[in-house]
Amino acid sequence: MSLMKEIRHFAVPKNHVAIWWFGQNGFIFKSPEGTLVSTDLYLTDSCEGLHPGIDLKRRVPVLIEPEELDIDVFTCTHNHQDHTDPETVRRVKNKDTIAFVGPHPATDVYRAEKVEDGRIHVSYPQCEMEFKDVKINGTFALPTDDTDLNHMGFVFSFGNGPRVYVTGDTDYTDLLVSAAKHKPDLVITCINGGFNNLSHWEAADIVGKIKPKAAIPCHYDMFADNQADPKQFRASLFLKAPGVVYQEMGYGKPLLFSAER
Ligand SMILES: [Fe+2]
Repeated sequence: MSLMKEIRHFAVPKNHVAIWWFGQNGFIFKSPEGTLVSTDLYLTDSCEGLHPGIDLKRRVPVLIEPEELDIDVFTCTHNHQDHTDPETVRRVKNKDTIAFVGPHPATDVYRAEKVEDGRIHVSYPQCEMEFKDVKINGTFALPTDDTDLNHMGFVFSFGNGPRVYVTGDTDYTDLLVSAAKHKPDLVITCINGGFNNLSHWEAADIVGKIKPKAAIPCHYDMFADNQADPKQFRASLFLKAPGVVYQEMGYGKPLLFSAER
């Protein structure tokens, strides 16, 4: 069975969320009612050659071809190509059944790639929207350079169950801690430090101030020239966020997360 079909068939118990990682900041979340929400799915190799002299060839296998993608809500945190990938959006077949969410520059990409206006939902820090049993709260993120000044993060609430904060790419700022008002049970954070993103130490500092139950590192694996060791985040978490469980994900394998863990 293809991974997409496996995800579609996977049963999520009450008060849980199932999470699959696709490398970099790409995730699919599944709620107990079966709602599938993705964020920052990068399912092509379109970044290769984007910046001559920087090795941006993808190193993580493509686990789901864009044509196979069968989800309910497609979200992007900002308009860098490893997050809002025009080729991924272009090749998605089910554009007429998916809600596309993102800040304005990401929605420009959706529109350019033939997503109908009625399916596009503009998000921004402090926004709130709901799709079936999933609530989305927009959070602040500090742009990492001036090529896109509309970065943001999301807190996804799955039914009455867990709340998951995805930081998106962001520079360090205490304003990231404002996501704490949504009481996330889990924080998924970039840790690479490269290209002005949070380092493992800065990410652990923010997690320590938000105080979720667990934290997952991401955005350290896709490109040779943008790597970091997640174990450094584990050590930083131990020092800066005592009591927060370190959770490392594998590719394409479900993690069942409950707020009660
Ligand atoms: Fe990125």
